[in-house]
Amino acid sequence: MSEAPLIRLRGVSRVYRTGSVEVAALQGVDLDVEAGEFVAIVGPSGSGKSTLLHILGCLDRPTAGQYLLKGRPVDGLSDDELAVVRNRELGFVFQSFNLLPRMSALRNVEQPLIYARVPAAERRRRAAEALERVGLGHRLHHRPNELSGGERQRVAVARALVNNPSVLLADEPTGNLDTRTGRDILALFRQLNEAGVTVILITHDLEVAAEARRIVEIRDGRIVGERRGDAP
Ligand SMILES: Nc1ncnc2c1ncn2[C@@H]1O[C@H](COP(=O)(O)OP(=O)(O)OP(=O)(O)O)[C@@H](O)[C@H]1O
Ligand SMILES: [Mg+2]
Repeated sequence: MSEAPLIRLRGVSRVYRTGSVEVAALQGVDLDVEAGEFVAIVGPSGSGKSTLLHILGCLDRPTAGQYLLKGRPVDGLSDDELAVVRNRELGFVFQSFNLLPRMSALRNVEQPLIYARVPAAERRRRAAEALERVGLGHRLHHRPNELSGGERQRVAVARALVNNPSVLLADEPTGNLDTRTGRDILALFRQLNEAGVTVILITHDLEVAAEARRIVEIRDGRIVGERRGDAP
């Protein structure tokens, strides 16, 4: 038997129920992602991209189907166990940065380590290292409002990386950035991927998707195609 992929979805569906209305946001999704890949998931608004990312990120559970992370079924885990998996294995980057406004870049990046009960001195060292990795070694003590949009997103990327997750999950990470700054952030993802980080990036922007090596297309909650991106 060959080794299990990092991520395997089989027949994953997600139905939202609002009162008597049901929305099938995902319908029978099969997806494998190997360690080290750079995958873009593209599709129009409402096609189920964020729903898929939430499931991949263990922020939400499928209504039906199976999710194996590193060969282990995620379905049977309790909410607490899922939170541990999230903290250890997954790093998130969102369109709106989601930084704590009163805290320095360093303190923001330390947050996942506080949760993981890493001692203070090591926390600081690792947070500073992560910020250096994203090119922000000179901004450790700046607060979000003292940083540019691109720098804020770099802080968010550093926070996502500080636990050395198996996968970096990004939902429209360039959505709030101008074109040039967005390109810089994509270049950062590419550089991290070349250094071995698995990246799954969600976007409705085909130019952004082209940065990936593999582009998966989703429409009405189903995967309808796949092609190669421009990345070498
Ligand atoms: N919490 C929810 N409750 C009910 N319906 C939802 C919920 N979240 C999403 N939906 C519905 O599920 C479908 C997929 O939504 P999703 O957010 O995954 O789309 P998306 O591809 O991320 O879109 P966008 O590009 O606009 O972010 C949509 O029809 C949406 O209205
Ligand atoms: Mg979305």
